[in-house]
Amino acid sequence: MVAGKHITLIIGGGIAAYKCLDLIRKLRAAGAQVTPVVTRAGAEFVTPLSVAALAGARVYQDLFDLKDESEMGHIQLSRAADLLVVAPATADMMAKMAGGHADDLATTLLLATDKPVLIAPAMNLRMWEHAATRRNLAQLRADGVAVVGSESGDMACGEYGPGRMAEPAQILDAIATALGPRPLTGKRVLVTSGPTHEPIDPVRYIANRSSGAQGTAIAAALRDLGADVVFVTGPAPVAPPSGVQVVAVETARDMLHAVDAALPVDVAVMAAAVADWRVENNFAQKIKKTPQGTPELRFSENPDILKQLSSHASRPELVIGFAAETENVVANAMAKRTRKGCDWIVANDVSPATGIMGGSENAVHLVTQTGVEDWPRLPKTEVARKLAARIAKALT
Ligand code: C5P
Repeated sequence: MVAGKHITLIIGGGIAAYKCLDLIRKLRAAGAQVTPVVTRAGAEFVTPLSVAALAGARVYQDLFDLKDESEMGHIQLSRAADLLVVAPATADMMAKMAGGHADDLATTLLLATDKPVLIAPAMNLRMWEHAATRRNLAQLRADGVAVVGSESGDMACGEYGPGRMAEPAQILDAIATALGPRPLTGKRVLVTSGPTHEPIDPVRYIANRSSGAQGTAIAAALRDLGADVVFVTGPAPVAPPSGVQVVAVETARDMLHAVDAALPVDVAVMAAAVADWRVENNFAQKIKKTPQGTPELRFSENPDILKQLSSHASRPELVIGFAAETENVVANAMAKRTRKGCDWIVANDVSPATGIMGGSENAVHLVTQTGVEDWPRLPKTEVARKLAARIAKALT
């Protein structure tokens, strides 16, 4: 997919710049031609000499380098590529891109290009979570810029969290996706995600543990393949992806209504951790502690959204359910596929020892009509990309 393609790789100024050396090797091994551009700050982290040696090409650094201009003007440089990749994309670079600045070679290329752009953000987690960076990221996505990562993990600054640049293998996949066809263009996909909250009284609720990370990543991956995504989410700590239609719900019954309202869709991916029961005798006022003892809660069963959708008059062509299990994962998932009437089940072991629940990785088994595939433990974004690619294959 990347063989024979021209990639302009803009290396920004962050410690993650060292990973670009491996990215260049991988790109060249895959048959791509790399034109490197190293920003002034980028050159503090990797030497232009090593970049040039690995790329087998000269490194462009300065807009006002007349030699560059006579060899290849910046307009030409920005348009000769099939794709511009910015890695690492620092908070400052993202701000400049979102604002349309052109005060050095890299930003000028990015403003002058008519080619797709992919960024791999990398920064300290507080910078990543800052409202300004959130705004800039949303703007860039709205401008059609593709984004890979950031990922959660240990960071060079000694902190742990999101803001870490995606690994070179992941960036390579994202490059292939950005260059490749968008096979889900024209398809409408529903993704449910997050937990549901079932009220006990106005201040208390019961819920399942769910960060919404896997559902969010799936919605983003389907969007990246060109799908028109409706994202129905319960109250989850992970923010929904941009570029999708977000429908925020609270309870299982709200979610059922939102799912019904989203129909017809071609595909439904039901990743939400829906509460099986709601409190039938939920209280209109906050329950008070009394000497009479503890309150008694009575439960009633919530609608099974997946089961209802699987036998719906407007059943999507492909219905995918999830099975979060703590034992007999595959056997339970196979039984669940039949019981619910869906086409596929994505099953995983969420025992606390796996660290999957609330973590950034997942190890899943894909149970289909024809068998079971055991996928290796991967970042949740990677599981999402694999699943989106499988969905695209199944529809064509
Ligand atoms: O039965 P269980 O909760 O293990 O099934 C998990 C799958 O069913 C998930 O895809 C989940 O989104 C879906 N589900 C649902 N409605 C429920 C319970 C689960 O759609 N009430």
